[in-house]
Amino acid sequence: MTKKLWGGRFTGKTDPLMEAFNASIRFDRQLWAVDLRGSQAYARALERSGLLTESERTEIVDGLEAIIAEWESGTFVLQEEDEDIHTANERRLTERIGAVAGKLHTGRSRNDQVATDVRLWLRAEIVHLRAHLEQLIAAAVERAGEEIDLLLPGYTHLQPAQPVRWSHWLLSHAWAWQRDAQRLDELAARVDLMPLGSGALAGTPFAIDRDLLAAELGFAGITQNSMDGVSDRDFIIEFLFWATLAMVHLSRLAEDLILYSSREFGFVKLADAYSTGSSLMPQKKNPDALELLRGKSGRLAGHLTGLIMTLKGLPSTYNKDLQEDKEPLFDAVASMSGSLQIACGVLSTLQTRPAAMRAALSPEMLATDLAEYLVRRGVPFRESHHIAGAAVRMAEVQCVTLPELALADLQKLHKAFAADVEEVWSFEQSVERRDVAGGTSRRAVLAQIAHLRSWLAERA
Ligand code: ARG
Repeated sequence: MTKKLWGGRFTGKTDPLMEAFNASIRFDRQLWAVDLRGSQAYARALERSGLLTESERTEIVDGLEAIIAEWESGTFVLQEEDEDIHTANERRLTERIGAVAGKLHTGRSRNDQVATDVRLWLRAEIVHLRAHLEQLIAAAVERAGEEIDLLLPGYTHLQPAQPVRWSHWLLSHAWAWQRDAQRLDELAARVDLMPLGSGALAGTPFAIDRDLLAAELGFAGITQNSMDGVSDRDFIIEFLFWATLAMVHLSRLAEDLILYSSREFGFVKLADAYSTGSSLMPQKKNPDALELLRGKSGRLAGHLTGLIMTLKGLPSTYNKDLQEDKEPLFDAVASMSGSLQIACGVLSTLQTRPAAMRAALSPEMLATDLAEYLVRRGVPFRESHHIAGAAVRMAEVQCVTLPELALADLQKLHKAFAADVEEVWSFEQSVERRDVAGGTSRRAVLAQIAHLRSWLAERA
């Protein structure tokens, strides 16, 4: 017999490397609870359609209940041959109740089973994520209410631009999170459909009342095409997109706070609980929590990109490629859960430094207000913008700040300047003038707080 050059490893049985390559138990064991609950409901559906007797159904449901107890107490022992969570649970059921266990999989395939399991699992996780997100929004809203008096520089291009309320900055992040919450609700509706009954691809040949089964499992509805039902992973893509965008939002909060907590800004002091030291430099206090929040956005974008590439060009229905959906999904859920809670912790425990915020406000940031002063006296904005620029230059030449310019000098730039120009040089007044809906005046910020509070209350 001639030996194949490449055949040395093949034995006729599955190559052990292939066993390991093919197995998903290492990660899909997380699905143990939904897999078992789904099977219990399926056993009842089989009984309703006359495929199980009442006593067979009882044996199966009780057997599955005992396996739930094993997982819960940590006594479930995985075997070498357990390829995935579905085969592991079924193997164990056979060990416990014997041949009748073999009736459970009637008309079912791991294809509709796994799609159902993942949807059940994600639906429950979304409930937790929603709560974490609401807590984060509530923490921002509470702080915004308590610290409404604080002003700090607002930036564009990271250059000092105009004074704003600290609360306005806080809420600018909260609104992004509110959209994240809405987006999560919207995608949750598309997660909440049951594929079970789709069989391998063509639908089960037995009279399973899918609507009743779905209702029993708490699903809002059923998938309407068995071929689509077993292959649809859009809900995972949508979730990964949601997670990526929500993480990008957290990364932007993190970046602001990393800057604001630096010695150069000094607007906030992070609680020790969310900071770490340096192993080399004794003076260091590093914003690691925030840096991790910033960094994780890259990881989540990677998960989204990876899975959407996996789906591209797949032939219809189930292909093993789809097993690649779980690791990114599980990691995205864990990352988001941790990140939302950490962000909430950081935000609710940091200390503000009003004096540093105040010291960073410089009169140049009121140059726009100076131009607006002239606008109120009938000067076209394009002109007044130019004149205010000339005032900034004049102050620079005289080595004084804008408010220190003599009225007579200002009047050389435009005759509309009068003694009341003094009133321009108040940061409070500047902020209060921005009283438009969505602006940074006290009233406008209080309106945002009220809006978000009632939005939160409606969801409770
Ligand atoms: N472990 C598999 C997965 O996660 C379960 C489905 C297997 N189906 C199959 N036809 N081999 O996708």
